[in-house]
Amino acid sequence: FIPKLLAGKKILMTAGPTYEAIDAVRGITNRSSGKMGYAICQAALEMGAEVVLVSGPTALATPHDAQRIDVQSAAQMYNAVKQHVAACDIFIAVAAVADYRVAQVSEQKIKKSAAPLTLELLPNPDILASVAALANPPYCVGFAAESENLATYAEQKRLAKRLPLLVGNIAQQAIGSDDNELILFDDAGMHPLPRADKLTLARQLMQYIAQHYEGDFS
Ligand code: C5P
Repeated sequence: FIPKLLAGKKILMTAGPTYEAIDAVRGITNRSSGKMGYAICQAALEMGAEVVLVSGPTALATPHDAQRIDVQSAAQMYNAVKQHVAACDIFIAVAAVADYRVAQVSEQKIKKSAAPLTLELLPNPDILASVAALANPPYCVGFAAESENLATYAEQKRLAKRLPLLVGNIAQQAIGSDDNELILFDDAGMHPLPRADKLTLARQLMQYIAQHYEGDFS
């Protein structure tokens, strides 16, 4: 039995990697299976929320009852988020968004040659930071995958992006794995969620969010 702590709540979330095309057949992406994001989507649905899942390319099945919007690039992800953000109570950014996109995408496959090839990369917009900076933002939850100094980097990121809650994990063990280990950072400090499968952690995280986000609206 799972209490419907999020009944009537609208959650917008991003998950998976983004894919930034270089040419017709090549691109830049991040290593992300989407498993943590999809588990969070599933946990939120179980608790009675309505969920819009903006997803980069993954091999995962859509959680039953989620409204899934498939995107490839960060720009497409940002557009989908902008279209749905006004209606949501909670925004959870789990996607591993590519930090850069290619300035000139070639429609045709670039031919290989012996000469060095230089690609110009432009920074992508920070989707989460721009949602958190809205005049009347939803409760914003970010993720930070770090390979070292997790506590320091995660808290810095939380403050820089002005998030009430940031979820940290160690990148090496999280990526592609069915297990994970999280640390939640908020104004009250650090709250570890010990190693478990991603759905168990997702349920614990959503419970934490359900219990903490309301205060933010007052
Ligand atoms: O700064 P960093 O990329 O490590 O921040 C990670 C958090 O910010 C994640 O929640 C991620 O989904 C979000 N993000 C975003 N748009 C970007 C980069 C990161 O929404 N362009």
